[in-house]
Amino acid sequence: MNDAVRFPSLSELRERRSAKWTQYDAGVLPMPVAEMDCLLAEPIAQTLIDAVRRGDTGYPPMDGVPSHAFAEFAADTWGWAPDSRRCVLSSDVSVAGIAALRTLVPDGSAVAISSPVYPPFFAWPGRAGMTLVDVPLLGADRGYALDLAGLERAFADGVRGYVLCHPHNPVGRLVPEDELAALADLAQRYDVLVVADEIHAPLTLPGQEFTPYLTVSEAARATGVALHSPSKAWNLAGLKAAFLVYEDPRFDEPLAGQRHTLPWNAGHFGALAAVPAYRESREWLAALRGHLADNHALLRRELAHRLPGASCPVAQAGYLAWIDVQACGYGPDPAGRILEVGRLALGIGSTFGPSGAGHVRMNIGCHPDLIPEAVDRMVAASA
Ligand SMILES: Cc1ncc(COP(=O)(O)O)c(C=O)c1O
Repeated sequence: MNDAVRFPSLSELRERRSAKWTQYDAGVLPMPVAEMDCLLAEPIAQTLIDAVRRGDTGYPPMDGVPSHAFAEFAADTWGWAPDSRRCVLSSDVSVAGIAALRTLVPDGSAVAISSPVYPPFFAWPGRAGMTLVDVPLLGADRGYALDLAGLERAFADGVRGYVLCHPHNPVGRLVPEDELAALADLAQRYDVLVVADEIHAPLTLPGQEFTPYLTVSEAARATGVALHSPSKAWNLAGLKAAFLVYEDPRFDEPLAGQRHTLPWNAGHFGALAAVPAYRESREWLAALRGHLADNHALLRRELAHRLPGASCPVAQAGYLAWIDVQACGYGPDPAGRILEVGRLALGIGSTFGPSGAGHVRMNIGCHPDLIPEAVDRMVAASA
């Protein structure tokens, strides 16, 4: 393992007061909540320590520096140069996504998502005053591709917004450029806003390529907004900073109010930390991505040897593993049984949508030693 990325011991982790480490009792190994176990990249830690020492705990900066840092990172990483004035600082991706729907989609419209998917997406349309339509992804046997024909039917039936999860949580898939371009063409034809949640993009695994939605075509730029944040890749979720990114000047006017209010709701520490994350913590990120690829491979080997009924798609990005455990004899509530008998907490598959039944989601943003330990616990619960 590359020691640029360091992990506290399990007993030190249990002293953390974050959601992951306070929801279960001490005998449970927690692997559901999407936060990582590693220590912060040094430039980020130092920035935060310095801010605390200065008593620099006011509102976030309005100088646009965090947005600049994101735009530079996007240019250097993906060859995408969004105008930093259109990278609007926000508290988090969810707030930014709901704000985009509320502002750019007509009131009361239907908004589509594609399950299985990050569970809070099911609530986003309702929180924007809209109704939800689920157009599930094609199945595991078809690589969890977007159901473009199903989306076209939904768009033709009046859906006016689509929340794209890319890279995908939970299956870890990267949508190929031609599929994104086909989605953009449909969105343009049917006047649909695509909200591309790209929060996991910096965690694209080595050898894989992420294509930002707003780079695929004029149709994508005319129909899309993207959501970014350093919170997943550099483990800063509690600090509250994200970006609502768009390119089409036609969105300037409807988004004028949000451009003013969203930044004031961001966390000052999140905004401060974004700058050393995007600018000075890229080598750390490269080491982390290598580590995550190793962890994904280790989990697949462990499952193949010790729990052969389980299967998971090969992730292309992120630190989440989507595991089909239907053949493991856990009964109707696999995550419940694994928690009760194996003392391992995993994401509950059915909360990701109907096809998630019989699945669990494991967060492998951890020290590699915890992966065989987690599989031990899964095996114990399957007996
Ligand atoms: C796809 C996706 N979007 C959004 C979030 C949450 O982001 P935020 O805390 O910025 O709202 C997560 C967290 O796991 C996620 O996986």
